[in-house]
Amino acid sequence: MARGARRSAWTAAAVTAAGLGVFSAGRGTLDWPMVAASLAVAGLGGFVGSLGRSRIVRAPESTAASRHSVAEALLANIPDPVILVDRRAVVIEVNPAARALLPALKLRHPLSFALRAPDVLDGIEEVLRTGAPLKTLYATRVPTERAFEVQIGALPMPDGAAGGQPNVVLFLRDLTSARRLEAMRVDFVANASHELRTPLASLLGFIETLQGPARNDPPARDRFLGIMKTQAQRMARLVDDLLSLSRIELREHVPPTRPVDLTRIARQMVDTQGPLARERGVSLTLDAEGPFPILGERDELLRVVENLVENAVKYGGSGGLVAVSLRRRTDEATGRTGIHLNVRDEGPGIAAEHIPRLTERFYRVDVASSRDQGGTGLGLAIVKHIVNRHRGRLVIESVPDQGTSVQAIFPDYEPDTSDLAIEPA
Ligand SMILES: Nc1ncnc2c1ncn2[C@@H]1O[C@H](COP(=O)(O)OP(=O)(O)OP(=O)(O)O)[C@@H](O)[C@H]1O
Ligand SMILES: [Mg+2]
Repeated sequence: MARGARRSAWTAAAVTAAGLGVFSAGRGTLDWPMVAASLAVAGLGGFVGSLGRSRIVRAPESTAASRHSVAEALLANIPDPVILVDRRAVVIEVNPAARALLPALKLRHPLSFALRAPDVLDGIEEVLRTGAPLKTLYATRVPTERAFEVQIGALPMPDGAAGGQPNVVLFLRDLTSARRLEAMRVDFVANASHELRTPLASLLGFIETLQGPARNDPPARDRFLGIMKTQAQRMARLVDDLLSLSRIELREHVPPTRPVDLTRIARQMVDTQGPLARERGVSLTLDAEGPFPILGERDELLRVVENLVENAVKYGGSGGLVAVSLRRRTDEATGRTGIHLNVRDEGPGIAAEHIPRLTERFYRVDVASSRDQGGTGLGLAIVKHIVNRHRGRLVIESVPDQGTSVQAIFPDYEPDTSDLAIEPA
């Protein structure tokens, strides 16, 4: 294909890709890079490209050349792969995202050499036959499993170029992360229902027993009512945890703006957890010199300390020590100062393979032991989201048989002189 024709084809592809973006936006799946691209192109040349009726306006050579370079820059910045092929499905142009996805793509080579997807190749034929755009799917397994929605549209050429025959533009939209999110959502609903169903089944069983065989057995009735109360409390806790998790997630993008003193919060929680620690023969200590102000939400930070101390006492205490400490440290690499809230225990520790998964919802190393202790497996997931909202990070370190240390690191707060006093904890 002549250079000029290839140029105008690629310029038109930019417009069509942009048109595809708007087309998707109109269908409810907003694609901002594409929408921006479409606006840029529309503003650029008064160039209207819409699927199935792209109109090419002839421009003087210099305008066409500059428009081509803008179109090229535009497509280079679109994170989704865009491929232009002629009517024999031979590759005419590709953007860098397409090259990265399909390294075997070569100009002037058939698309099928690099993209072995019968549905896509059939789609190209159909688009050429009918002129109407269509969507199909393309999945790859190598190097990782990925899925794409391929939008295929015909691209009429200016008179004379490519013999007036239309080219075809393929726009690939990555569905991998959307699918992963969907799988996580399904897992989450399955886990949550399972966690609720277990105590519910036990409640129903006891109610039937109380209505039947245990009707006139006061000692059994008292015992069963005690178990039922525990199960009902477990369900209430699970619902509370799920609600707070979704509340925190909703606000995760809005960091807190008021200064609070982490020392007071830690002190309050260590005092509150004192009875549980004593009950288990654990010595619970707090080491914090002076106030440690951070920008934070008091109630959320209380939950962080509560969860970490409770875990350390429940899973790591057993007669040993649980030490809570606060320190100000400067990271040598970044030069940033952070407040480190550290909760350390001397318990059995956690095997390395579990550590990356501990903040997943419902993940427990030993499900039965966590359930026995009334755990829902949501504690560390809640902690992680709260720490994220505070623009901090969570570091979990553990040595089997020696103990676990969980650190929540928050950005230091440096009050300027105009700041008001720290909110009392
Ligand atoms: N300090 C620790 N030592 C050993 N294991 C721990 C420690 N902290 C957490 N774990 C493990 O991590 C799992 C997840 O903890 P998480 O706080 O998320 O849930 P949970 O404590 O089981 O339930 P909940 O926090 O809702 O009471 C726990 O079930 C436990 O197996
Ligand atoms: Mg917990």
